[in-house]
Formats: sequence, C-alpha cells, structure tokens
Amino acid sequence: MLSLHGKVVAITGASGGIGEATARLLAQRGAAVVLAARRRDRIDAIAQAIQEEGGRAATCVVDVTQAEDLQRLVSFTTDQYGRLDVLVNNAGIAPISPLADLDTESWSAMIDVNLRGTLNGIAAALPIFRKQGAGHLVSIVSVAGLTVSPSMAVYAATKNAVRTIHEGLRTESTDGAVRTTAISPGYVRTHLADSMTDPHVREQTRKNMDAVGIPPAAVARAVAFAIEQPGDVEIGEINVRPTVQA
Ligand SMILES: NC(=O)c1ccc[n+]([C@@H]2O[C@H](COP(=O)([O-])OP(=O)(O)OC[C@H]3O[C@@H](n4cnc5c(N)ncnc54)[C@H](OP(=O)(O)O)[C@@H]3O)[C@@H](O)[C@H]2O)c1
Repeated sequence: MLSLHGKVVAITGASGGIGEATARLLAQRGAAVVLAARRRDRIDAIAQAIQEEGGRAATCVVDVTQAEDLQRLVSFTTDQYGRLDVLVNNAGIAPISPLADLDTESWSAMIDVNLRGTLNGIAAALPIFRKQGAGHLVSIVSVAGLTVSPSMAVYAATKNAVRTIHEGLRTESTDGAVRTTAISPGYVRTHLADSMTDPHVREQTRKNMDAVGIPPAAVARAVAFAIEQPGDVEIGEINVRPTVQA
C-alpha cells in the first residue's frame, strides 16, 4: 500500500489554488506539510484548517524571488519536522499579453517568480536532499509550454525553462538521491487570472477557466501520485488537462 505517512513536504504558493489543494490533500494522506507564500493570513488559516482535521501543517512566509527566503523555508522545515522529503515549486504568476504590447515589467516578473523562484527552490533544497541521500523536486509547469498560444510567449518560455532544468537535474541525479517531477496543468479553476494585467486576456482566461477548468484537487492528486511512488520509481512528467481542452 503506497502512502504519504512520514513524508515532509514544503509547498510554495500554498496560499490558494493548486498549492492550497496540494497541501490539503497531502496532509489528508499523512504527510507533514509546510505552506509557503507571501500572504501570511491565508497560509495560517489553511494550516489551521488542516490541523483541525488532524493533519500536520506549519507555515513560513516566503517570497520565491528572494533566494534567502527559500533557504529559510528549507531550514524551517528541517527544524520543524527533522527532514525535507519533497519541495513542490508551485508559486507562479501569469501576467500574459502579446509581445507587441512590450509589457517588459511583466516579462521580468514572470522570469523572477516562475523561473528564478524555481531555481531558488532548487538551490535551497538540493544540499539537504544530497545530505539525506534522498529528496524529490516537484515543479508545477504548464501545458502552455507544450504548445505556445498568442499572448503566452514569455509565460511559456519560463515554464519550458523549468522543464529543461528538470531534465538537466534528472540526468545529473542517476545516483538515485534526487527524483524530479514536472507537472503540466491545462485550465485549472484558480485565481491565476488575477495576475493578468491585460483586461481582455484576463476576461478570456477567466471565461475559459469557468467553462472547462478542472478543480485544483485534480493537480494535487497528480502530485500525490508522483510522491507516493517507491524511491526507485521516478514519475518524470505528468500532463493534467480538462478532457475537453484542445
Ligand atoms: N490555473 C491554471 O490554469 C494553471 C495552468 C497551468 C499552470 N499553472 C501553474 O500552477 C501554479 C499555481 O497557480 P494557481 O493556478 O494555483 O494560481 P493562484 O491561485 O494565483 O496561486 C498562485 C500562488 O502563487 C503564490 N505566489 C505568487 N507570487 C509569489 C511569490 N513571489 N512568492 C511566493 N509565492 C508567490 C501566490 O501566493 P501569495 O500571493 O500569497 O504569495 C499563490 O499562492 C503556477 O505556477 C501556475 O503557473 C496554473
């Protein structure tokens, strides 16, 4: 019987959407979870709800663009629970727009959060994974990187960069100490559209999410599936789309 009992999992972007659903599901299945995000009130409330249901949860305020915040997340987790088995790099933003709009501030923001934030997580987690002789890096990327639609170029580029980094880490980890999993969701009903600066793109995305989006718990189940495999089994990539999504 596969189980998450005894696993210690830190999750970035756990104040809502896919990160929150992942924290709740993993805790229900027996993992100790550390919820990380910028909004303390949100992560504290979710952790309290998990504890009231008998789960183990702690919180750490983290801005993933700050390398030292990820270092603090990893040391907080090991102080609290004795180890770090899994880091879920989930925090992400999508202020997408056509390249011709030249919204260079949003380009930089997506690079900082989606790409640099993931690298900051890897830099913080790898030393402890190597020390433990075991660890699992899960990143939430996107099907937006598999086929690139108009307005999505920079967002897709950040997600494809993370996919490439995962593949690199996988090929460097054949000693069996580090497992990597990149999970690519399609439309998921979350607040991701709130980060979209272009009003037309934001409204269209919200409409698509409402029309066909799957619940965040669907992605959480994919995370759980990857984590609960025995240590010699690596689930490298999972795509999780609404069945009706083109
Ligand atoms: N929803 C979809 O359709 C979809 C599809 C494909 C991929 N994804 C990916 O799934 C991941 C989760 O997104 P979501 O859909 O659940 O969106 P969401 O509901 O907007 O959640 C995004 C999370 O990221 C956190 N975050 C943003 N900037 C951060 C920063 N600088 N430092 C720390 N945390 C930060 C937010 O927390 P705070 O604001 O509290 O910091 C929030 O918890 C993202 O990587 C996204 O690209 C989503």
